[in-house]
Amino acid sequence: MRARINFLGEGRVLTSTSSTDSNCEDQKQKTLGFVPTMGALHEGHASLIEAAATECDEVLVSIFVNPTQFVEGEDFERYPRTLEADREFAYSSGASSVWTPSVEEIYPDYPALITPANRIDPGSLARCWEGKFRPGHFEGVVAVVKRLFDLIQPDRAYFGEKDFQQLRVIQDMVKHLGVPVEIIACPTKRDKGGLALSSRNRYLDAEELKIAQSIPSALRTACETVKLRRNEKSGGGEKDINILLDLAKARLDERIRLDYLSIVDEENLEVLTRLGFDGRTPPARILFAGHVNDTRLIDNMSVL
Ligand code: PAJ
Repeated sequence: MRARINFLGEGRVLTSTSSTDSNCEDQKQKTLGFVPTMGALHEGHASLIEAAATECDEVLVSIFVNPTQFVEGEDFERYPRTLEADREFAYSSGASSVWTPSVEEIYPDYPALITPANRIDPGSLARCWEGKFRPGHFEGVVAVVKRLFDLIQPDRAYFGEKDFQQLRVIQDMVKHLGVPVEIIACPTKRDKGGLALSSRNRYLDAEELKIAQSIPSALRTACETVKLRRNEKSGGGEKDINILLDLAKARLDERIRLDYLSIVDEENLEVLTRLGFDGRTPPARILFAGHVNDTRLIDNMSVL
């Protein structure tokens, strides 16, 4: 039998190590859904918790602002920490338990964080896009997620498509390490204007929010153009893709400092050189990253 963390209400967690532990017997029958977060919870997180509550008997939400996934110069110190409100929000969204581990629980060699003992290669999907702009970011993500999975041993874990590359990196990690957790992808929640909900949206003032609203419009422009043309017999080569991306870029507020806007194959995250308006295209995503003043935002949409 698997030893699993026994979680109690009110966020207290005990580690179960005995295979004869009676709580373990109880939990064997029940499915455990897990929603890892960094807090500052919003409706995007709630949608993951709700999905988990619908599909699983118990739902554990973790809140841990993971230091190792913030790279030099990023917002680790100022990342919003709203623990009390988060706890209440998680329970009202359907969590059975909320866990707020300490840094020592996640990184047993603390003050050393990632060491040879817990270092995991996040794989080739982590080298592009966010991996290029935030070197080391995905090493931190896979280290914390693997540790959380080891401690909690959930049946299913819920991740948002909002962080599409993160989702793919975790799916890849689970596959290659043979981690027995089913990864469930949940659609991106957006505000009325279409902006993808994000804890970092709290950094934006009213003017910056308006600027940021141009991001979903730009992505939608690209997706709708592809949909309109998908029944054409020809076209969809590199030239057409570049025209599409230029159209989308033109919709972006000019005050946005772009890191990337690209259409990629969902499987390997490589740039697509052919969209093939003839229906023979692999599932594709348009990926965006850019800055509104000091705030870096990412977004993506399914193109086909
Ligand atoms: P965090 O940014 O708190 O996000 C937690 C989960 O919520 C992630 O799976 C993320 O994709 C999802 N999420 C965020 N905004 C969303 C939205 N608008 N719609 C749907 N899902 C959304 O991602 C992390 O934390 C961390 O990297 C973590 C996985 C917890 C590891 O530290």
